[in-house]
Amino acid sequence: MALQTAQDVPELAGGWPLLGHLRDFGRNPISMLSRGWREHGELVRFRLGPKDCVLFTGPEAHDAYFRAPEEQLDAKAVYQFTVPIFGRGVAYDVAPEIMDEQLGFLYPALRDSAMRRFARLMFEEASLFADGLGDEGEIDLPRAMNELTVRIASRCLLGQEVRDQVDTGFADAYHDLQNGLNTLGFFLPRLPTPAHRSRDRARRRVVDLFSRIMSDRRRSGARPDDFMQTLMEARYRDGRALTDDEISGILLTVLFAGQHTSAVLATWTGLELLGAPSYVARIRDEMREMYRETGAVGLAALKQQVALEYAVRECERLHPPLILLIRKVLQPMEYAGRTVPAGTLAMVSPAVSHRLPEVFADPERFAPERFAPPANEDRQHHYALIGFGGGKHRCMGKHFAYLQLKAIWTVLLDRFDFSGDTEVPAPDYGSWVTGPETPRNVRYRRRTEASVFR
Ligand code: HEM
Repeated sequence: MALQTAQDVPELAGGWPLLGHLRDFGRNPISMLSRGWREHGELVRFRLGPKDCVLFTGPEAHDAYFRAPEEQLDAKAVYQFTVPIFGRGVAYDVAPEIMDEQLGFLYPALRDSAMRRFARLMFEEASLFADGLGDEGEIDLPRAMNELTVRIASRCLLGQEVRDQVDTGFADAYHDLQNGLNTLGFFLPRLPTPAHRSRDRARRRVVDLFSRIMSDRRRSGARPDDFMQTLMEARYRDGRALTDDEISGILLTVLFAGQHTSAVLATWTGLELLGAPSYVARIRDEMREMYRETGAVGLAALKQQVALEYAVRECERLHPPLILLIRKVLQPMEYAGRTVPAGTLAMVSPAVSHRLPEVFADPERFAPERFAPPANEDRQHHYALIGFGGGKHRCMGKHFAYLQLKAIWTVLLDRFDFSGDTEVPAPDYGSWVTGPETPRNVRYRRRTEASVFR
């Protein structure tokens, strides 16, 4: 009997000499990668300039990808472009086991008792934001959701002191830091371009602000319940305390991982709901039911708002903010009789995988009920829905993000009716986090029906 050997991964047709598939990828990466899946199935190879890439698609392939050890599929090599933003000595600048230890400090700050407080703060921030809108008008939804999620993240993750300075400097510095996350920065993160110089200045401003707040806390003995304080009190296994620079870097890591992604998913949720008035009525019925007794938002009630949860999950499926997760292959990886060689960039794409008709019925349709029993489409496989990643790098903020999105839309749907173009806009693939093309104006008008909140 002939010995079966692993074969090469099939290559997507249409690559050019030198450029490979860069042109198609630049135009619309998801359409190109979906073609790869249609033509070749679970594994397909393509080239981005000199880089050989392999896409893993489908729940079983995701499982292999997310379970591969760090020594085989490495995240650190790929995310080096974040080092000038997050800083030296943290996250992707350190060995994976140190990064684990650093992120591990934050788990206590995400436990249920903290989430109860966060739910209240999220509700307060969303209500303040709604107050600021008055009775009717028009907003650019992506911009509005960005503002609101910066305020929520500052308050819950960074602390009240940063929140107090959001409008007097922090938001601007953060914005300049975000601009440092550009395509050029992915390849040449240290190139002294104006955007990179402004990124480096902004980082120094943010770190100065965080350091001042930490000194004030140490001087006054204040110990608020937030991520910053959790990190100030944490100790590495060898007993060492974190430096102010490490604390700032970890806070920036979490902020970058969690804020823009949340803003974008909040935006997609609003845009999809514009075209689904009967589903909005269902969400409102559920809110009336839920808050009739308590009249106040809280963690328990938010968790039970399943109709709203299904809508958010459907937006995670249709519009995952991170469309590509990437690892560098350090040791050859075998899957389904194929070998992915060392040196390749291995990818999974939530945006491609969430529209597989074998997994999600009628996948192009916005249908939140697909997550309700008996269909439970996302439960067929634990890696059917991967908008928050999987395996050891899975998102640590998923529950925080869901809570936040639900708090925002609970407040906004209670207060306002929204109207605007019901055609869902095309995604803008030009940014790391995939939102809709902007601006996207939406009209709002205060509802005449009494609020469910007292
Ligand atoms: C809608 C909002 C969010 C989305 C869609 C999202 C998505 C993701 C995804 C896909 C990953 C895996 C990346 C990879 O495998 O390369 C990830 C990792 C991560 N997320 Fe989130 N995230 C969101 C919100 C948050 C929030 C609110 C926080 C913090 C409170 C957070 C903190 C993190 C961190 C620290 C990691 C890195 C984990 C690691 O590498 O070990 N995320 N996120």
